[in-house]
Parts: sequence; structure tokens; C-alpha cells
Amino acid sequence: PNVAVFASGNGSNFEAIARANLPINLALVVSDKPQAKVIERAHHHQIKTFVLELKNCLDKTDYETQILNQLKQHNIDFILLAGYMKIIHPTLLEAYPQKIINIHPAYLPHFPGKDGIGDAFKAGVSETGVTIHYVDEGVDTGQIIAQQKVPRYQTDQLEDLANRIHKVEHQLYPETIRNLIEKGEL
Ligand code: GRF
Repeated sequence: PNVAVFASGNGSNFEAIARANLPINLALVVSDKPQAKVIERAHHHQIKTFVLELKNCLDKTDYETQILNQLKQHNIDFILLAGYMKIIHPTLLEAYPQKIINIHPAYLPHFPGKDGIGDAFKAGVSETGVTIHYVDEGVDTGQIIAQQKVPRYQTDQLEDLANRIHKVEHQLYPETIRNLIEKGEL
């Protein structure tokens, strides 16, 4: 299958996917941030990039329509969100039903939203986690595919917890994609 990764920032999850030797063709990286480190990482892996800023579009529908055109040009079969900080609207959801997957750095339904790690840390939980789920119109509400718990220790600084979560992400995301492909579900 031809796959697009959507990312807005660092791209460490993109990197983990790119290095995992998955039976996919990583055809395109889509970003809404021209300065994102993920762009550099994509070039390093010789993967094409498409950068589009919402501020240069008429509205969200125009923004997603332009992205959709790129996805069609590259015959993209499914989409992996990896730190993509925008809500997916019907334009893309209807074009890719059950074909858009996200990774969230908390044990959903706990701590959805932009700062899943910080929110769990502030709440003082002794356990949080990582969730891989299908994307729907809500924020981190779609059907859960895989989850893994991550402990939070008394002595943790936020950074310690964040590092522990990212480590789990980098292993769980590629592994989950591999399982879905092997089961013929992607
Ligand atoms: C990850 O923690 C992911 O779960 C969340 O955003 C972060 C992206 O990190 N959605 P990176 O850009 O992949 O390094």
C-alpha cells in the first residue's frame, strides 16, 4: 500500500515508521508547518513532502481539498497521523473511511487533546499510556486499535514521563501497522 504520514513537528514517530521496514510504500509526508523537523527527516529518507499552511487557503475545506489532490496524485491508500496538530474534517474523512490512523500519548479515553502527556502528569496519575486509534470527526475519540500502559513514577519530572511514553510510541506504532497489514485490515 501507498502511505502518507501527516506531521506538524519533530517527526520522531515518522522516523520510527520509516526505519521499521514495514511492508508499505512511504510515499508522502504532509505537513502544515514549513519549519517542522519532520520535513528534514523526510528529505533524509528521500520521501516526498507536501507542505500547506492553512493561512494560505480560503478555508479548511480548501485546505483539505488541496491535500486530497496530492494524496490522489500519489495513489495514497491510507494515512498515518503522527503529531499532526489539526482536526481532520469531512473532506478527508469521507475520502478515507477507516483509513486514517492516529497515535495519542495517553491511555484513551483518558487525557485526550493537545497535551495528553502534560495533562496526565498534572493529574498525578500513577499510570498513563499510548493509544493507536482510527480517526473520526472528534478529538481522539475514534475506535481504539491498540493500547499500551506506561508507568509514571513519583520521582518523574515531566520530561522523564515524556521520554518513557515516546519510547513506547516508537515501538507500538510500527508494530500496530504491521499487524493491521498482516491481518488484511489496512
Ligand atoms: C507524539 O507524542 C504523538 O503521540 C502526539 O504528538 C507527538 C508527536 O511527536 N500525537 P513526534 O513529532 O512524532 O516526535
